[in-house]
Amino acid sequence: MFKVVLIKGDGIGPEISDAVVEIFDAAKVPIQWIEKKAGLNAIDIAPNGIPDDTLEAIKTYQVALKGPTTTPVGSGHKSVNVTLRKALELYANVRPAKSLPGVRSRFDNVDLIIIRENIEDTYGGIEHHQTSDVAQCLKLITRPGSIRIAKYAFEMAKLYGRKKVLAVHKANIHKITDGLFLKCFYEVAQEYPEIQASDLIVDNTCMQLVVHPERFDVLVLPNLYGDIVSDLCAGLVGGLGVAPGGNIGDSVAIFEAVHGSAPDIAGQGIANPTALLLSSFQMLQHIGLHKTKQRIENALIQTLKDGIATRDLGGNENTKEFVSAIIKRLEPPFENEFIEPAPLRIKSELLKTHKDVVEYCHGVDIFVENPTGVPNMPQQVGKLKLKMISNRGTKVFPGPQPNIWLVDHHRCRYIATDEDDNFINIGDDEIFNLIREVSASGIKWMHIEKLQLFDGEIGYSKAQGE
Ligand code: NAI
Repeated sequence: MFKVVLIKGDGIGPEISDAVVEIFDAAKVPIQWIEKKAGLNAIDIAPNGIPDDTLEAIKTYQVALKGPTTTPVGSGHKSVNVTLRKALELYANVRPAKSLPGVRSRFDNVDLIIIRENIEDTYGGIEHHQTSDVAQCLKLITRPGSIRIAKYAFEMAKLYGRKKVLAVHKANIHKITDGLFLKCFYEVAQEYPEIQASDLIVDNTCMQLVVHPERFDVLVLPNLYGDIVSDLCAGLVGGLGVAPGGNIGDSVAIFEAVHGSAPDIAGQGIANPTALLLSSFQMLQHIGLHKTKQRIENALIQTLKDGIATRDLGGNENTKEFVSAIIKRLEPPFENEFIEPAPLRIKSELLKTHKDVVEYCHGVDIFVENPTGVPNMPQQVGKLKLKMISNRGTKVFPGPQPNIWLVDHHRCRYIATDEDDNFINIGDDEIFNLIREVSASGIKWMHIEKLQLFDGEIGYSKAQGE
């Protein structure tokens, strides 16, 4: 018997979770459900919507199937999903998009898998108001995070017999952050010569996806692009009602539909359980019950082919009728179906990454506020010489002023070089002296960024026009 934590959630969550449990019972799947609460139904026990024993159970049993949970708007607890994702380091969001017969959509030949990095990028929530006119969000792409998600994508492609992995990025603009993601991807790709590795810029990817989605196989993306592109792909195959997902960590995995708790139809008995059922198929593969997954999937596909579907998919059935139709089409278990499960899990030791690099600092970007135009900055302080000032990334000093709209937020670049214009390594004291002088001259500064070199690579992006 496999033990799986079942979180029914709220809204339509209990209805669609019960539907999956009923189908699994009828299919005689050897799973014992450990039922735990989360979401609105649990806030009397835990104000954040996740009781301790729910978190403990997920850690203990390592696999969970989760119904949707409502996130209160304005006040109230944070999203249960985001909290679980962070607390359990669920770093990979795996969302297959596959055409299903009988489900109305623009394409009938899509079969791709989105692997979205689930923790980093702009989702760290590191945001600041810099000046009254300018707000900033930090986009953090890390080497370990990028290696880990790339390895996950290639390992998954290998296990699932996929042929191609595509890295999606915007490294032509985000040269350092997306550039790092891409570099890590190709480093990892070398370990998988049997799988075709390539990359595509995210905007082009979107265009190609809506024209030729059948050409795509496995896609790996940083968090923000993954969030957007995975919804686009859900749209390609029929929308939210058929969009499953898995949030995977080193030891723990939580499977759930992409859609929410649908409060507008909760309790009416008309919710579509297909997306949660498809998520449970991912779960069956994760624990290794491939034949069982195939058997239930066959019954679902036959049901849809027979024109039986819930109303959101254009059918006439309610949840119970739809579930009964699937159960009626279930074959009995194959011989030895539940023996020797072959879990599709990526071993965490494969995902370790560390690289020793020599780094040194040869300059600093100091960000200052000046609402009246280009600030009058000191030309040189100690070894640091003013090289450039930019406004929203466009160079405004030295040289002729471009005809642009200036905001009150300026980036002033100071570089330390010797007489031959070679970079010099500087210590913190040089930087402190610069900040002191800027501050003493009455210029308001907000923050600084050290300019660093890592093994000869530049660790910052150059201003446009340089
Ligand atoms: P939603 O996905 O719940 O609903 C959007 C529309 O799709 C509604 O008209 C709904 O009736 C319909 N719909 C969704 N799932 C359906 C299903 N299985 N069968 C038939 N119709 C379905 O999105 P919404 O309204 O923006 O969010 C409602 C709540 O769910 C919010 O509190 C949100 O934060 C939460 N949410 C939770 C998620 C999760 O727990 N994984 C994911 C997304 C949203």
